[in-house]
Amino acid sequence: MDGRDLVRSMSVVGSGRAAQGLRTVRAAWRRRRIDAAGLPPRGAERARVPGQVQGAEPGPGGGLIRFGRSELRITVAVNGAVFWGWDGAGPEPSYALAGSCPEPDPRAMLEPDKDGGWRVVAERVTVVVSRHGAVQVCTPGGVLLRRDLPPRWWEPVGGGTARWMQRSQVAADARFFGLGGRAAGPRLRDGTYRLWNTDPGGAFGPGDDPLYLTMPVQLVVADAAAHLVFHDTTWDGRVTLREGEEGAGSGHDRAGRCEMRMEGGPLRCWVMVGTPARVLHTWASLTGAPALPPEWALGHHHARWGFGSEQEVRRIVAGYQERGLPLDAVHLDIDHYEGHQVFTVDQERFPKLPALAEELRRDGIRLVSVVDPAVKAVPGNAVYDGGSAVDAFVRDAAGRSVRGEVWAGESVFPDFTHARVRKWWGGLYEERLEQGFAGFWHDMNEPTSFNAFGEPTLPRSARHALEGRGGDHREAHNVYALCMARAAYEGLRELTPRERPFLFSRSGWAGMQRYGGTWSGDVATGWPGLRASLSLVLGLGLCGVPYSGPDVGGFDGSPSPELYLRWFQLGAYLPLFRTHASLRAGRREPWEFGPEVLEHARVALAGRRRLLPYFMTLAHLARRTGAPYVRPVWWGSPEDRALRDCEDAFLLGDCLLVAPVMDPGADRRAVQLPRGRWYDTVTEQAYEGPAQVLVDAPLSRIPVLARAGAVVPVRGEDGGLELEVWAPARGRTGGGLVVPDTGQGRDDPAIERYTVRLQGTDVVVAREPEGREGCAAEPPYPVRVRGLG
Ligand code: GLC
Repeated sequence: MDGRDLVRSMSVVGSGRAAQGLRTVRAAWRRRRIDAAGLPPRGAERARVPGQVQGAEPGPGGGLIRFGRSELRITVAVNGAVFWGWDGAGPEPSYALAGSCPEPDPRAMLEPDKDGGWRVVAERVTVVVSRHGAVQVCTPGGVLLRRDLPPRWWEPVGGGTARWMQRSQVAADARFFGLGGRAAGPRLRDGTYRLWNTDPGGAFGPGDDPLYLTMPVQLVVADAAAHLVFHDTTWDGRVTLREGEEGAGSGHDRAGRCEMRMEGGPLRCWVMVGTPARVLHTWASLTGAPALPPEWALGHHHARWGFGSEQEVRRIVAGYQERGLPLDAVHLDIDHYEGHQVFTVDQERFPKLPALAEELRRDGIRLVSVVDPAVKAVPGNAVYDGGSAVDAFVRDAAGRSVRGEVWAGESVFPDFTHARVRKWWGGLYEERLEQGFAGFWHDMNEPTSFNAFGEPTLPRSARHALEGRGGDHREAHNVYALCMARAAYEGLRELTPRERPFLFSRSGWAGMQRYGGTWSGDVATGWPGLRASLSLVLGLGLCGVPYSGPDVGGFDGSPSPELYLRWFQLGAYLPLFRTHASLRAGRREPWEFGPEVLEHARVALAGRRRLLPYFMTLAHLARRTGAPYVRPVWWGSPEDRALRDCEDAFLLGDCLLVAPVMDPGADRRAVQLPRGRWYDTVTEQAYEGPAQVLVDAPLSRIPVLARAGAVVPVRGEDGGLELEVWAPARGRTGGGLVVPDTGQGRDDPAIERYTVRLQGTDVVVAREPEGREGCAAEPPYPVRVRGLG
């Protein structure tokens, strides 16, 4: 038992749940016993490397290269992505891919290279394979982006899953991003990052790793190009990163390095090359378009563990309404369940939930329900009985159902890697819809099971269907939440075919965006937690999951009024804008921090409401292009090295640059600007980038700058759409995209394109014709020009 385990079990015990504390000790022993019996002992292993090249067979998009002790398959797909797999691994089956694997690019061909190697030349990338099996990915101009050295496997002598290791090199100037949600980023500094979805067991800060949602996706940004690399294996593993160093003109650059050590799974990989925007677009075409949230989910959400009763929910909502504060959703946590059991309602404290939901909906407020995967194992619990009837729950190697310990007590876990189980689970959301819930918050799905020692999850030997292939928890763990999200999403599409399912989930994996978003989990209250919040949202966006946000104010404890306000102001510009806190934490309502904070929070809320059409447009663009709403400042200029290291500001779409305050006592801050002119959106003062500028950041607001020439769709005073247009710089033009969306339903409105130019001292805004024919027209909305000085 390490210190952390002890703290975890003590906190369960210390919170008055002594019986549960003891059960976590029993659960931990049980887990250990199950694995001792169910996992093969690690015996002798044989190491293997590919050996020398023997020959090759060209095929569509690439071909197969044979080595003495392995073979390598390479295919360039029509979307420009490169696939390679050792030991005969192909792209499928895969939990990450959306639908079927893209077709091979017929123009890409395997051809002999010098020194006995082979290469594939495609439009956007050249792949060179050495005779020992090193794989180089180069730009079409021949600049090396990544060299994957020949891998090494360790195979159990008696057969079984091989571990593998691969070292790679990247450019000396490259920076690493991604690997899912990481608290100490978004730039991933030198260190080892684990790929195993983990509940850190209490509030986390930047030093905690791994967290709930990991994935083997790296975005590597270098002068020559960006590339995204995805190792398609769900197993546990570790990635060690070391940034390179440039020998200041001496020519002795030290390459950046990456070492992956995986406990099993196929050694196969996808690589995408280009600008960050192109790379994310290709990634979305491979793993699926992000689900479109309904408009209300882009507004303000208020949650709390421990609202306790309908009266309390009404009191909070009235608090918002009496003060004229916009509110779009209220979340009910596990305390509204009957004895913490999923898909139940405590009838004493929430006797008329559907009526409450209806009342709130009339005021434009939706109810969101927490949904935990663990099902209390007691006969009479309808979900347990129903699940047992369809054999839904995970079993151990001896065929007994695996029991864990979660909020409701001794529980079993649905095996979401089975289509039949997903179907059954998806149907359970009908009960939630009948209770009046409009959205779903998946929690504890790493999956978490409280163990007093050892890992807080299921035994590694627990069996899973894995879509009929069969396997154990070592392979299924990381995709457990992804499959749970799929179950809910598909169930909701059937139950409410005309609506957009809204769900977000604590855990997940590559492809999570197809079903919904995620959130920070239990981020620690404190300034480091505020920083971690932004790191998570940025990092997840670069892995293709664009919708997320933190617990504003932090999960535990009580933030100072200043910290709460700065968190609130940041949250107002993140996709999921939600205040939430633990049962034992202090209050998080904006009026609980004094009149000054309330007034500034009101401004932040009003600003968010005004930006809803812009957020909706960003949601559509994310869906169509894979570009996250929240982007690092280097997004449009990855070659600008100063921007690559900037972690305290972000771009919200193309138009806005948001510079949150992340230190106490600040009333000004430095902002690293990308090239071009930028206006302070409050003072309209213009700044010229690239530059570092000092801007005012009084307690009343965080600096937000608009790009010259930007077209920002906003909600006008009368509730209608308006265009806020920022004057282009002299000699320049501007423009922007707007997706007018009613905010619900399944329609896919067309993108409207606007151009902006200066005519004398006037700013002229025109709507581009939709087809080739037709001419530019006046915008159908009121236009407000800003930044003319
Ligand atoms: C987990 C969640 C948190 C929730 C709590 C109770 O800690 O991360 O958001 O409030 O469980 O359900």
